Parts: sequence; C-alpha cells; structure tokens
Amino acid sequence: MPSTGATGVVIEIERLRIRSLCDDDLPDLVALIGNWEVVRWVSSVPHPYTEADGREWIARVQQDHATGRPRRFAIALKDSDRLIGGVGIDGSTGDESGEPALGYWLGEPHWGNGYAREAVAAVIDYGLQTLGMETIRAYTDPSNVASQKVLLRCGLKKVGEIELVKPTRLGARRAPLFRISQHELSP
Ligand SMILES: CC(C)(COP(=O)(O)OP(=O)(O)OC[C@H]1O[C@@H](n2cnc3c(N)ncnc32)[C@H](O)[C@@H]1OP(=O)(O)O)[C@@H](O)C(=O)NCCC(=O)NCCS
Repeated sequence: MPSTGATGVVIEIERLRIRSLCDDDLPDLVALIGNWEVVRWVSSVPHPYTEADGREWIARVQQDHATGRPRRFAIALKDSDRLIGGVGIDGSTGDESGEPALGYWLGEPHWGNGYAREAVAAVIDYGLQTLGMETIRAYTDPSNVASQKVLLRCGLKKVGEIELVKPTRLGARRAPLFRISQHELSP
C-alpha cells in the first residue's frame, strides 16, 4: 500500500522502497545513470550526465511528489535507503500517444537480482489501482531482451509494434509495444 508523508508517496515492497528523491541521492544518481551501459537503452536521459542534470531531476521529482499523485520515483534498497535506480509511469510513449508509459533503469551493479521486476510490478499496481489508469504501456529497443523479460514477467503483453517519433539510442526506428490493462489485474 502506498503511504503519503512529508517527503511524498512511498511504496514499500519486499526488498525495495519506491520513493521520491532527496538531495543526498545526488552522488548515487550521477554515478549510476552516468554509465553508458545503462543510458544506451534510455534515450530520454542526457549523456554525459552532470551534477546539474541530477539536481534538476531531483527537483522535478520532488515537485511531482508535492502534487500527491506522483508518477516518478527513485528505487532504493530498503535496508540502506540507498538509491539504485529509477522508475516512472510518465515515460516516453514512443509515438506521441497520451497513454501512460513505463520507464525504468537500474544501476549496473544491481542488475540480475530481480529488482526491476519487483519495482515495475509495484508501480504498475500503483498506476492502475491508486491512480486509476486504464492501461499502461511500455516500449523497448528491439534488442533489449532483459527489459522485455521484465515487462512480460510483470504481466504486460506484447501487442504490436510502433513507429518511433525519435529513434532509440541504438538507432532502431520501430519498437515492440507492451501493454497492461486494469481489467487484467488479478483481484
Ligand atoms: C532492464 C533492467 C532494468 C533489468 O533489471 P534487472 O533487475 O537486472 O532485471 P531482472 O533481474 O528482473 O531480470 C529480468 C530478466 O532478464 C534476464 N536478463 C538479464 N540480463 C539479460 C541479458 N543481458 N540478456 C538476456 N536476459 C537477461 C534475467 O535473467 C531475467 O530473466 P528471468 O525473468 O527469466 O529470470 C536493467 O538491465 C537495466 O537497467 N538496463 C538498462 C536500462 C534499461 O534497459 N531500461 C529499460 C528501458 S525500456
């Protein structure tokens, strides 16, 4: 269940805390997202990534949380509260559709632990149940196998392909489209 406090909406799950960003997250954010192995899959993130980019992002997420219905989050380890990634449901739709879209990334040292699946599932639940979104979509670079597995594991289905308004960082102009609807949620 998401809770709302002075620092915004917090979703506690098994191993992770999905929360707003704080100023202390800046060094972890810049170090983890400044890695080409991460951002080559995420066209919307600047590269190279500067401290100013990080400060601007932290401020934007804090503003989003001040609305009470945020759509952008940090992924933090529950034990240490250290930031390990980011997840949102206001990502790029790829084709200018108005549909809510997932975006997510994890710092490379944290890959392969199932964290993405845990975080994305929690944010989908929040988007559909708490925010009342009818559907949520996601697209990936066609070669992003790990990300496609995350989406399928979280209950999204591949529903077709889209023509991208802007090619991915790896040059793809078409991308697989995934979607989940509110009525597909288990009761
Ligand atoms: C995509 C990403 C978020 C996955 O995070 P993760 O926590 O490592 O994912 P998980 O541990 O939940 O693993 C997901 C699945 O992908 C598999 N996988 C991981 N890396 C893989 C690879 N390079 N090739 C094929 N499969 C891979 C895992 O074995 C797992 O499969 P399973 O569900 O059958 O067990 C992470 O790799 C990442 O941040 N990548 C860069 C940014 C990015 O791609 N964002 C998404 C943009 S659409």
